Amino acid sequence: MRKHVTLITGAGGEIGHGLIERLADEGDTAIITIDLNPLEGAFAGKVEHEYQGSILETHLLERILSEYEVERIYHLAAILSTRAEFTPVTAHQVNVEGTLKLLDFAQAQGESHGRAVVFLYPSSIAAYGLPNLETKAAAGAVREHEWNNPTTMYGCNKLYCEHLGRYFACHYKQLAAENLSGKVDFRAIRFPGLISAVTVPSGGTSDFAPEMIHAAARGEPYACFVRPDTRIPFMVMSDAVDGLVRLARADRARLGKTVYNITAFNPSADEICSLVMAGFPGAEISFEPDLKRQAIVDSWPADVDDSAARSDWGLDPRFDIEAGFKEFLIPRIRDRY
Ligand code: SER
Repeated sequence: MRKHVTLITGAGGEIGHGLIERLADEGDTAIITIDLNPLEGAFAGKVEHEYQGSILETHLLERILSEYEVERIYHLAAILSTRAEFTPVTAHQVNVEGTLKLLDFAQAQGESHGRAVVFLYPSSIAAYGLPNLETKAAAGAVREHEWNNPTTMYGCNKLYCEHLGRYFACHYKQLAAENLSGKVDFRAIRFPGLISAVTVPSGGTSDFAPEMIHAAARGEPYACFVRPDTRIPFMVMSDAVDGLVRLARADRARLGKTVYNITAFNPSADEICSLVMAGFPGAEISFEPDLKRQAIVDSWPADVDDSAARSDWGLDPRFDIEAGFKEFLIPRIRDRY
């Protein structure tokens, strides 16, 4: 018999680290992982098996299919929004073709063990695209169906994969004689910018917030690449992981949507700077906007309406902006360096 496991792709990334820690601490599922690089020692010891390689390698997924019964998938592997603009075709391959492979794998798993595989997909505020700052200011907290006109390759990839997931969950091979849909239980969260106390992201466009705080803690000067008035939603990484785990465990019957916004606070870059300065007096922070990256952040909403996540599956972030910075991020990041 094959062992029952949870699969995490992109496990060595920022969300992956937090998720491995959380799931391993709770200990109710064995974890297998896929990542291009070996997991760091502390994380490697917490998983049942790590597969090193690309999600695009079919033989890797076939090996997993033969060795394990995967009950839940957290598909975190992706090329983020800034990096994707330099290599859009590769981004499409990883973000879209990679997700298609994982959905197909989930379908095969579901057909093989007869139960729906819960498929957690981290989408993003990048799925939104607002045409200008006046519209962004007027839009306020956007709802899931509004402003779905992303300007980045990454945002297009995320939005399309939300649809792909819904297709697999509800309409897969709808003309076949037997009913094959329902084997993938697809659930997506549109994450805001995420700030971890442990890791610094690579290749995102919301990176100015985590970069600012980590640079201050290291005593390094930081030139913020967006204007002080730039505003998008953010969340502390542990709350983002908690959101993923809550959505994974939610009763299917209560889920009225395939895709849910979530957020915790939505400061301007200047407000983030003030909180960082309060925690690290003497930090050298300047603003030197990169007009092209600025345009991407300007196209993302200033806030999102996450009322559906709160009512359908109990989204309940622990940290607001004050507590997030003063009680969590600043002390932990200070200790880290
Ligand atoms: N944080 C991501 C990025 O900046 C958005 O999902 O690309």
